[in-house]
Amino acid sequence: MTILHSIQPSKRIFSGIQPTGNLHLGNYLGAIKNWVNLQEEITSIFSIVDMHAITVPQDPKTLRASTHEVAAAIIAAGIDIQKSILFNQSSIKEHAELAWILNCVCRIGWLNRMTQFKEKAGKNKENATIGLYNYPVLMAADILLYRATHVPVGDDQKQHIELTRDIASSFNSMFTNDEEEDFFCLPEPQIIGPAKRVMSLRDGSKKMSKSDSSEASRINLTDTKEEISNKIKKAKTDPELIPETIENLKSRPEALNLINIYSSLSDQSVEKILEEFSGKGFSYFKPKLIELTIEKLGPISSKMRYLLKDTIEIDKILKTGAEKAREIAEPVLKDVKYLVGFI
Ligand code: AMP
Ligand code: TRP
Repeated sequence: MTILHSIQPSKRIFSGIQPTGNLHLGNYLGAIKNWVNLQEEITSIFSIVDMHAITVPQDPKTLRASTHEVAAAIIAAGIDIQKSILFNQSSIKEHAELAWILNCVCRIGWLNRMTQFKEKAGKNKENATIGLYNYPVLMAADILLYRATHVPVGDDQKQHIELTRDIASSFNSMFTNDEEEDFFCLPEPQIIGPAKRVMSLRDGSKKMSKSDSSEASRINLTDTKEEISNKIKKAKTDPELIPETIENLKSRPEALNLINIYSSLSDQSVEKILEEFSGKGFSYFKPKLIELTIEKLGPISSKMRYLLKDTIEIDKILKTGAEKAREIAEPVLKDVKYLVGFI
């Protein structure tokens, strides 16, 4: 029986978010809002993944500012730094070290299937960085470094978590003996709520994204009341009335998107929302959605502004978080190195 330094917790939550550009309603409803609820259950680990951010070119000053902004947004949205661990990825060198070892487990064929790479690299794949191609292996390292069991994310990350499971399982069969228990458990994606994939306000077939060139396509967490109001007023819809059942929304992506956003922001089921609004048009619904969005996002953006006045304090919070994260990460990497055969 091998003596190991780390233990597999029965439940541990890990998730990450990139410090790139403005956080938007999709990031909030698809990820951060769920993190806030989950942290009540168990100590959770949340990372601002700056090493992922540099897989596409970043201006160093802007990257530093975005790291502060994302930290402020996460805290303003309700992550309690006494309960949860919040840190920036690059401050724990073990992420990069484990990623290298997992590079020697993951197969090229697996990475070739990743749709996010295809989308982000676009037509000019030859010119994309190796980091962008390799990104899902670093993401697997983020999760496995903490022997995490659950990963709350938006729907777009599902494929990357499936890859993480393939890497974990392959590592287990390469490096643990039959009579020993598997070292890595296979982490579960937690894709929760009615806003798993918030769509662009301008085009219901595209997800709301930081990189969309149209500002009107997304609601940023820092938008003013006027901006929120104008963007929702201009959001694409259709002339039909709101139906009684979800089935009747299936062929109306823009309408479905606004209903899902309302449902998620109000913590009420889509059925309940349809009960309330069926038979009404979007000219009636939109002002209600504007009011609700301002009510929910207003306090987050003002708290964010307040926290951003003291970036030294944010740096301290991230440093304390990194110290706690390192305590978990170091023994796991030590075990991995032993299992691989390093002395
Ligand atoms: P990123 O901004 O790519 O770092 O994403 C951070 C988190 O937000 C991940 O869990 C994503 O799955 C989630 N996310 C990003 N965009 C959306 C969206 N449009 N709808 C739902 N979740 C999203
Ligand atoms: N790839 C994720 C995104 O773009 C961010 C991320 C990096 C992540 N590492 C992670 C999410 C680990 C969950 C777990 O949204």
